[in-house]
Amino acid sequence: MTTRIIGTGSSLPRQTVTNEDLSKIMDTSDEWISSRTGIRERHLAKEETTASLSVEAAGKALQNAGVLAEEVDLLIVATITGDYVTPSTACEVQAGLGASRAVAFDINAACSGFMFALHTAHAYLQTGIYRTALVVGAETLSKIMDWNDRSTCVLFGDGAGAAVVRAFGEDGMEKGGSENGFGGLLAFEQGSDGLRGKVLACEGRRNNNPLVQNPLVPSYVGMDGQEVYKFAVSTVPASILRVLDRAGVDAGEVKYFVLHQANIRIIQSVAKRLRADVGKFPLSLDHCGNVSAASVPILLDEMNQKGMLEKGDKIVMSGFGGGLTWASAVIEW
Ligand code: COA
Repeated sequence: MTTRIIGTGSSLPRQTVTNEDLSKIMDTSDEWISSRTGIRERHLAKEETTASLSVEAAGKALQNAGVLAEEVDLLIVATITGDYVTPSTACEVQAGLGASRAVAFDINAACSGFMFALHTAHAYLQTGIYRTALVVGAETLSKIMDWNDRSTCVLFGDGAGAAVVRAFGEDGMEKGGSENGFGGLLAFEQGSDGLRGKVLACEGRRNNNPLVQNPLVPSYVGMDGQEVYKFAVSTVPASILRVLDRAGVDAGEVKYFVLHQANIRIIQSVAKRLRADVGKFPLSLDHCGNVSAASVPILLDEMNQKGMLEKGDKIVMSGFGGGLTWASAVIEW
């Protein structure tokens, strides 16, 4: 039994905001942002919500897969910016799509969220509990940014990406099965380090009840950029090497490394540490910024739409970020 991604979709807010636009409202410049991060513009939500972006991305993924909403058994949304504390974004998406049979819940693993959700879906599908899963990564990060803190707000954007994942049988030859074997998700690995969690954090509501009074003050993302940078450039290559080893795949066989889109310098450093051609690391951060849980599925969908993914291609996917968390997978397309 294996699981394969059989369709992808994505959705970005209509409004783009360039570095130049930001330089008109804060003390920053296109030169500072693009030279340190590779980001040139991002999409920011006006009327869109985390749920509306998720519904659009998920609907496109279903269409791309040729799967009906009623066929979805499991619907997982990875997000740290749900519109409600409850209901979950996944339940909102279920309602929006009419995926009436699906069991729906959210996962919070920040920028690793889509990968954690993919691995969770894989585990459910592998056991035979469910056959078809819809996995979404979606964020409206702009609402948890301090727009007076130029060191964080310029880095992030809003958007959603989705993938339909399906279980295939032992023969690997069902519709979508690989001719060379089972294909699909070959191996994954993931981890967490809560001891370092505060280097990238956004506080929730504090206790506020008859025993203790804490006025409601909105909290925003705070980050020790250099500590996060050091975490990423050491943890991500090690995670990728572990998952390649687990899959029995050599780095040279990998066609693309689909990494979380935080910063081009992190991606270049990972490529160097893996001794891999940086041309194998496609980018969306230039036009999306860091979209946390949505980064990996948006990039995967862009690649799919451009026809870059061919059957049998070996692809590494890797997410990393708040928690701290990280997660990598090797898939055969
Ligand atoms: N525009 C202009 N200047 C800015 C700025 C901005 N948007 N943001 C910060 N600066 C200034 C700082 O105030 C500082 O000025 P000072 O030297 O006068 O004090 C200077 O630029 C350098 O700041 P610093 O934080 O040391 O920059 P850096 O070289 O470490 O780059 C990051 C900052 C955030 C780009 C970098 O640390 C990074 O990419 N970290 C990883 C973050 C990340 O990817 N997080 C998400 C992971 S999921």
